[in-house]
Amino acid sequence: MVRIPVNTPSHSYEAIIEHGILSRAGSILKELLSGTPPLFIVTVAPVRRRWGKVLMKSLDAAGVPAKIIEMHDGERFKRLSTVESLAEDLLKAGADRKVVVLAFGGGVVGDVGGMLASVYMRGVTLIQIPTTAQAQLDAAIGGKTGVNLRAGKNLVGTFYQPELVLIDPATLATLPEREFRAGMYEAIKCGVIGNEELFVRLERCSIKELRKDAEFLGWTIAESVRLKAQVVSADEREGDLRRVLNFGHTIGHALEAATGYRQFLHGEAVAWGMIAAARIATDVGLCHDSVCERIREGVLRWGKLPPVNLQTAKAIKLMRSDKKTEAGVLHFVLPSKIGRVEVVKDVPESAIAVALAEIRKASRG
Ligand SMILES: NC(=O)c1ccc[n+]([C@@H]2O[C@H](COP(=O)([O-])OP(=O)(O)OC[C@H]3O[C@@H](n4cnc5c(N)ncnc54)[C@H](O)[C@@H]3O)[C@@H](O)[C@H]2O)c1
Ligand SMILES: [Zn+2]
Repeated sequence: MVRIPVNTPSHSYEAIIEHGILSRAGSILKELLSGTPPLFIVTVAPVRRRWGKVLMKSLDAAGVPAKIIEMHDGERFKRLSTVESLAEDLLKAGADRKVVVLAFGGGVVGDVGGMLASVYMRGVTLIQIPTTAQAQLDAAIGGKTGVNLRAGKNLVGTFYQPELVLIDPATLATLPEREFRAGMYEAIKCGVIGNEELFVRLERCSIKELRKDAEFLGWTIAESVRLKAQVVSADEREGDLRRVLNFGHTIGHALEAATGYRQFLHGEAVAWGMIAAARIATDVGLCHDSVCERIREGVLRWGKLPPVNLQTAKAIKLMRSDKKTEAGVLHFVLPSKIGRVEVVKDVPESAIAVALAEIRKASRG
């Protein structure tokens, strides 16, 4: 069992990672929550069908009363209206301020369930049990919750830390292969940002090997969680430090937006974004060409990614209107070596053009 502390100014808690830990969730929660407050599990049908029984059985065995409330599956249900209808469900079921909301699913469930917990009766206890690679490596840590508006993603949300994040890598076994791989690019990201050993082990393995090797998978998740936990502990609310987590995301977000969020899974867009950022870093003289080459090869080794057609002018327009851009100034997170990145503000347009041309070409090759 790996226990990783997350110490933000607003709240300290742990992420616990262990293969098969879902079947012990009941006893862990009983101990943590002192007594047996009513537990409401927010989830989606695909997760309930595959893993609901394991969780319910362990809660039952520990004598923790729990009810499942389901939301519709998919990003298009990450809306305020879903939070509202879940809150109505809670109230109908008699949930008061002592209720515990347990978000059990991917990043969508985590964001919606987290937001629900942060606003229901002005805030109730939240537990995260993430079940996708994206959510275990990234989304469940750090306390960001949110929903989408018609105009864009995550435009309404809160910062709300959970009481515990329980991560069972075994639940990833039922994840579609494409989802698994897409989420795992965030682990490569963590390697480049601040963990050379993580990058080195990932650049040497195939995605199949990673998926099959429980110990390696658990270690990869733990190292990524550790990195994110350190960053958000030092910077809970998106100051300059937290920006490093956006490595690969400046161009990644532009790719997602340009294709209406339909062509790329988030991690796939970030994968291209990391290759582009590495190219920019060599172009502006921040890193040696060999660093860029390793990042490119490491990412592409896991297989083909959806094609890129984004042109420079459109990319720059999208990046300037990104929620994370302040006063139109583009910040790029660029590697200076494997395990170290810098935030650079004045990247010339020509370097962005070269990087985009490179990923367009690579996506056809
Ligand atoms: N809060 C944050 O800091 C943060 C960070 C990154 C991403 N996010 C958000 O996370 C969301 C994306 O998360 P995601 O990629 O997990 O998508 P998702 O939650 O939509 O899950 C992807 C699919 O996998 C299914 N699924 C989940 N667990 C499964 C399992 N174990 N076996 C089989 N199927 C399973 C889901 O039902 C869904 O159909 C986005 O909305 C994004 O904005 C939030
Ligand atoms: Zn991401």
